[in-house]
Amino acid sequence: MKKSLLAAAIMSMVCSSTVFAHGSCDTELHGYMINIKDEMRAMSSDVKAGDSQSAVGHVEALITYFEKSRSEVPHKFNHDDLKGEELKIQTAEYQKVVDSTITILKDLKGALQSGDSSKVRELFGAIGEQRNLGHSSFKDC
Ligand code: HEM
Repeated sequence: MKKSLLAAAIMSMVCSSTVFAHGSCDTELHGYMINIKDEMRAMSSDVKAGDSQSAVGHVEALITYFEKSRSEVPHKFNHDDLKGEELKIQTAEYQKVVDSTITILKDLKGALQSGDSSKVRELFGAIGEQRNLGHSSFKDC
C-alpha cells in the first residue's frame, strides 16, 4: 500500500497541471532568461553599493542576452501550435517587447554613466513593467 501511495504522490507531482499543460521549458530562451535574472540581481546590488561602473558591465551583458533572446521562439508559440500569419504576428509582437526592453537598458546605461539616480530608479521600474508584459504575453512555462 505504502509503495502505491508513494507512486501516486510522485505521479501527482510529475503530472502537476503546469508540467502537463505547458510541457517542460528546456529552451535556449529559458537559459538566457536565467542569465538575465542573475545579471539583474548583480546589477541592482552594484547600484545599491554605488558601483556604477560595475553596474554598467551588467547592463551591457543584459543587452547581449536580450539581443540573443530576440531570435529565439518562446515555448508558448510551439505549445499553441502557431503557424503562418499568426506565428508572424506573435513573433513581431514578441520582438517589439524585446526591442523596447533593449532601448530601456541603453537609457539605463546612460543614466548610470551620468550619475542620474532618479532616472536610474525610473528605468528600473520600466524594466519591471517589460518583464511583466513579456511574461504575461509570451511565457507559459
Ligand atoms: C529583466 C527582466 C526579465 C527577467 C528578470 C526575466 C526572468 C525570467 C526567468 C527567471 C524565466 C524562467 C522562468 C521562471 O522562473 O519564471 C523567464 C522566462 C521567460 N521569459 Fe523572462 N525575464 C525578463 C524579461 C522578459 C521579457 C521582456 C520577455 C519578452 C519579451 C520575457 C519572456 C520570457 C519567456 C517567453 C519565458 C519562458 C521561456 C520560453 O518560453 O522558452 N522575459 N524569464
